Amino acid sequence: MKFSFLALGALPVVLSATTGSSSSSSSSAAAAPAPSSSITTTIPGSGAPTGVTSPPASSPPTVPVTLITTNPTAYPLSSIFAGAPAQPTTTLDTIYPAGASPTAVIGAPSLPDISQLNPANYPPLDKPPPTDSSLVQGWIQQVQNSGIPIPGFAPTQVGGCPTNQAAAANASSSGTCWWTCGHCSRPTDIVTCENKLTWGTSFDDGPSPYTPNLLQFLDEHSLKTTFFIVGSRAISRPQMLQTQYMDGHQLSVHTWSHTALTTQTNEAIIAEFGWTKKVIKDVTGVTPNTFRPPYGDIDDRVRAIARAMDLTPIIWTTSPSGNFTFDTNDFNIPGGTVSASQVLNNFEQIMQTAPQLNTGFIVLEHDLFQQTVDLATGYILPQALAQQPPLTLQPIIECLGKPLSDAYVETNNNSTNPPPSGSAGATGVVTLTSGAPGSIQSPTAQPASSSSGSTSSNQSSGALRLDMSPIVALGFAVFTSVAAAFVAGL
Ligand SMILES: *[C@@H]1O[C@H](CO)[C@@H](O)[C@H](O)[C@H]1NC(C)=O
Ligand SMILES: *[C@@H]1O[C@H](CO)[C@@H](O)[C@H](O)[C@H]1NC(C)=O
Ligand SMILES: *[C@@H]1O[C@H](CO)[C@@H](O)[C@H](O)[C@H]1NC(C)=O
Ligand SMILES: *[C@@H]1O[C@H](CO)[C@@H](O)[C@H](O)[C@H]1NC(C)=O
Ligand SMILES: *[C@@H]1O[C@H](CO)[C@@H](O)[C@H](O)[C@H]1NC(C)=O
Repeated sequence: MKFSFLALGALPVVLSATTGSSSSSSSSAAAAPAPSSSITTTIPGSGAPTGVTSPPASSPPTVPVTLITTNPTAYPLSSIFAGAPAQPTTTLDTIYPAGASPTAVIGAPSLPDISQLNPANYPPLDKPPPTDSSLVQGWIQQVQNSGIPIPGFAPTQVGGCPTNQAAAANASSSGTCWWTCGHCSRPTDIVTCENKLTWGTSFDDGPSPYTPNLLQFLDEHSLKTTFFIVGSRAISRPQMLQTQYMDGHQLSVHTWSHTALTTQTNEAIIAEFGWTKKVIKDVTGVTPNTFRPPYGDIDDRVRAIARAMDLTPIIWTTSPSGNFTFDTNDFNIPGGTVSASQVLNNFEQIMQTAPQLNTGFIVLEHDLFQQTVDLATGYILPQALAQQPPLTLQPIIECLGKPLSDAYVETNNNSTNPPPSGSAGATGVVTLTSGAPGSIQSPTAQPASSSSGSTSSNQSSGALRLDMSPIVALGFAVFTSVAAAFVAGL
């Protein structure tokens, strides 16, 4: 039943050569399904073999890309498309025993024993967790006790900006600072890295069966990264999560069910954060103090709840003129709306724009799908390593000038990452030199306005935010379908 929106075919990518027509499908955005709706299991790109051996006739267009270099073992671009046949996956390089000492994280407790971990003790996969359990009720109480005021405005409706016109009109820094509609961010959001030509790399939505392929590439090139972990994936693949952590990559929260957080009630948001923090701690012994909102869907209500739960938001960089974000759009290949070459084209624009920033930058990529890992290891990371002037690739916590241990509540060092002044008891958040937890470092953004402190968005971006919205809404729909198929198919 969800093929109706996939049949829209080649929607323009934000950064593709096809510009100016992105608002043409706005009516379709209203059809985006609720995040928790049940979905067909036959969407292409699930990672399961489908018998498809070449791109379907309706596949998205290929666009020219100029490659500096490619990995000699890269899969050809022509083999990276929605419904591509399954490729072999590698196994984990190292499996760490219970009790192992996490040498990469100073002060960390020894590795937990996961042999007794029982998924039945966690919420159902890929659904917003129930809020009536005693654990969630306890987290709700903690948020109340934090003293941090939670704004009273209502959750948004599923569908993004077109289905929320009043909220979209109120999305700027003088309103709710809703990133989805205009890329508003607060000084408490991490959206860049400190130093020019530094890329704080990250991969979202795993751990997945393709994560070990990415880990192998990172190992071979002595790279560390940040992984935004979906709780439902963590309880499904705890051993993989342990290896990611023990190998010295940064783990960050990416919610339990990958829901669009602004559509959720306060209690449901607390459950999404709480369960993801808990499963990561149960598996690794430490609790991340950062999170990325799925789809970048954050507003001041979500920010306040996150703050009360010791979580600093990490989004990704917006271009200096605000006309695009550093999103490769790799996530939409499995849904059939974006081609591999369009993703590389997007990445080229990011590479061309990065030297214009006075800061470093953060890019959206995924380790959830075969296609996205193929592109990362075969093309995107090799391109980045070959850039001139050279780029520094680091986990996001390190690109902020902090040791990896500052990425976790239990190991955060008050001398390298002091609690923000005036904080109401929260100690785990990431605090930058500005004194704010998180930061907006980009001098290319507008100067901070007096009291609201927003720097990345202003009223003049109103036209843009409505143009972007169908793509965001489509992203909601495609992800929901593809993720459900992925879960069912593996
Ligand atoms: C964004 O704006 C810059 C500068 O105006 C321009 O060079 C670039 O092509 C634009 N990119 C997109 C994707 O619109
Ligand atoms: C607009 O934003 C303000 C400030 O956050 C908030 O108080 C108000 O409820 C919002 N109105 C709507 C319609 O979202
Ligand atoms: C915190 O960091 C400082 C500076 O690196 C170091 O001297 C100190 O030993 C650290 N403290 C703890 C408890 O790790
Ligand atoms: C940091 O400070 C908080 C209280 O502000 C304290 O609870 C915590 O133990 C301190 N952490 C370290 C590593 O000293
Ligand atoms: C709003 O943004 C536009 C385009 O980025 C910029 O030219 C303008 O100066 C900004 N206005 C304010 C008040 O920051």
